[in-house]
Amino acid sequence: MEWMLSMLNWQWQVFALILVSAAFLSLPSIPRYLLLRFRRPAEARETPRDDLTPERGCWNKTGPLIIAAFRELQLRVISPGPVPPWMSESGIHSRRVPQFDVSSVEDGVVDRGMVYTVKGAYVLGKHSVVFNCFSAVVFGRCRAHEAANGLTHDTLKSLVNGPVDQLSGSVVLLVAMWGDNYFHFLIENFMRLALVYDLLREDTSSRVLSHTNLKWSWRFFELLGIDSSRVIPYDKPCFFVERLIVPSATKCGHSRAPAVRLIRNLLIANIEKTLKLPMKTKPHILIQVRRKSRALSNLRALSARLRRSFPHVKVEYFRPKDSFEQAMRKHMQADVVIAPHGAGLSNMVFCAKGAEIIEIHAAIGNRGKGDMNHCYSDLAGVIGLRKWNLTSETIGNRRDGLTAPIEDVLRLVSARLYGS
Ligand SMILES: *[C@@H]1O[C@H](CO)[C@@H](O)[C@H](O)[C@H]1NC(C)=O
Ligand SMILES: *[C@@H]1O[C@H](CO)[C@@H](O)[C@H](O)[C@H]1NC(C)=O
Repeated sequence: MEWMLSMLNWQWQVFALILVSAAFLSLPSIPRYLLLRFRRPAEARETPRDDLTPERGCWNKTGPLIIAAFRELQLRVISPGPVPPWMSESGIHSRRVPQFDVSSVEDGVVDRGMVYTVKGAYVLGKHSVVFNCFSAVVFGRCRAHEAANGLTHDTLKSLVNGPVDQLSGSVVLLVAMWGDNYFHFLIENFMRLALVYDLLREDTSSRVLSHTNLKWSWRFFELLGIDSSRVIPYDKPCFFVERLIVPSATKCGHSRAPAVRLIRNLLIANIEKTLKLPMKTKPHILIQVRRKSRALSNLRALSARLRRSFPHVKVEYFRPKDSFEQAMRKHMQADVVIAPHGAGLSNMVFCAKGAEIIEIHAAIGNRGKGDMNHCYSDLAGVIGLRKWNLTSETIGNRRDGLTAPIEDVLRLVSARLYGS
């Protein structure tokens, strides 16, 4: 009997475990902002508005309350929209920029174009958590729900009591999780400049806080007419900004179509003005070369077949070590871009109208067999480029090489060049 009881217990435990796991797995389908509430501590709510001094000292007055708020996971992930009244009481304001609204491909929900301002704001950590003496907000939307877990009481306190880089005047925040990766830098974050472009042009004392670790980060700002002296690298543990300006972020892996189009047009116009593009005398096929993960194992065979099948066409490589000028020129002149899935595909924003993109996906994606990351398909749609999905012939995983299905590539290239 006892044996049976313990057996039952054991089965119940497994059952309970399965239930809990199932509940946990279904979590991502719940909008993140429902999971994370922000409630201002009562004392902070009663503090008179005059106390909202944009000075570091205010931390000492209300810091412990903010810490308490973090500890209780009462951090709010901003899903774009006007801030509620209690937030504007805390010095966080929002302004609509409806020309940058986008509606989600998946659910049709409008993702609003907004510009937020925060008076006297600390910015810290890889999630770029923003807080003043009264509220804490995560504006970025990649992994934003993790931010509160990563910021324990002690880290927060040591960060703010440790060295803080003071930035006076107006500073635009372009930082979010993974912004030190090319796709997230260029497509998600840099493009957010569109929402504050006029402001940056009018107020030439305003600056931008951004990841600058990518080899071309500075060049992109320059091309847009933002002098490097106005770009502050996000390379310190904590910043304190007198007036922080935050253009609304997109969902992770997504792009804000009108913003991408505006910035792309400005970049291309300026590239054409400043770079000398050699004359194009024949169609160009560009193959993107990756060296580490997801490199094409049959790169040579692919380019040899392309050269043999299309002798009047220029077949060239875009290599990781290419200069900025080479990268821009090659993409602007390409009629077809062939690339294994990867951040290099972000450069399709420099392709001319009519170019076609052939993306080679791993047979096993990040989420299993047949999973295709759709971020570059979305991007191609935003720019109006035709794009094709092919799957590696070998079971290429993230780390292994991919094998381009050469016959399929030839068929697509031929259709693009000869319309058949
Ligand atoms: C805040 O308090 C710490 C000690 O807890 C002190 O070292 C620091 O100078 C204070 N900061 C300001 C700006 O008052
Ligand atoms: C390529 O794959 C993406 C992601 O699954 C999909 O959204 C898109 O429609 C596909 N494109 C084509 C041309 O089939």
